[in-house]
Amino acid sequence: MTVKKIVKYGTPSLREKSKEVHKISKKVQILVDDLYDTLYTLNGVGLAAPQVGENLRIFVIDVGTDPKTMNPITFINPKILKREGAVNSYEGCLSFPNAYTNVRRYKYVKVKALDIKGRPFILEADEGSLLARAIQHEFDHLDGILFIDHCRNRFEADKILTEKGLNPVDADYLLDEKELEEEILKNPPETDSSAKGE
Ligand code: NI
Repeated sequence: MTVKKIVKYGTPSLREKSKEVHKISKKVQILVDDLYDTLYTLNGVGLAAPQVGENLRIFVIDVGTDPKTMNPITFINPKILKREGAVNSYEGCLSFPNAYTNVRRYKYVKVKALDIKGRPFILEADEGSLLARAIQHEFDHLDGILFIDHCRNRFEADKILTEKGLNPVDADYLLDEKELEEEILKNPPETDSSAKGE
């Protein structure tokens, strides 16, 4: 069991595009075990390999809330097949300790990936579910995209980042999400504050 050190916001490698996994070697298996050890120790929902300093296209998610409902899912070389709808929610990230801000996400996502044995699977996450959001959040990490790039209110995000001693939002990375924003504004605002580190 190895709990890895989390790479914090401000470290350049978090902005890199991660590499495909060509072989699920022993090293990759150990990395995945370490991702889970780290995730559970830090009580997070998801963790991507770049967050422990390995720029490989791997992430793990467990949206189970206690040991009885544990549901670990390993994603290797994931591809997003479909995404629809829009939601907003308060989100955090283990690379941004204790900083949460309101972000835009798709409501529904369908993803394909390889599991730890190299078997392909397709997963559809329920609309608006924590799993749907977590998949988008972790997938982004593999492309150097961070949750604050999706923030709905840059000033709110800057305020919390500053309070937590982190760098402010980097305007160069802010995403243009006009369509998502319009869709969110059409629907009643959600006040989901179930955010945990991802
Ligand atoms: Ni994260």
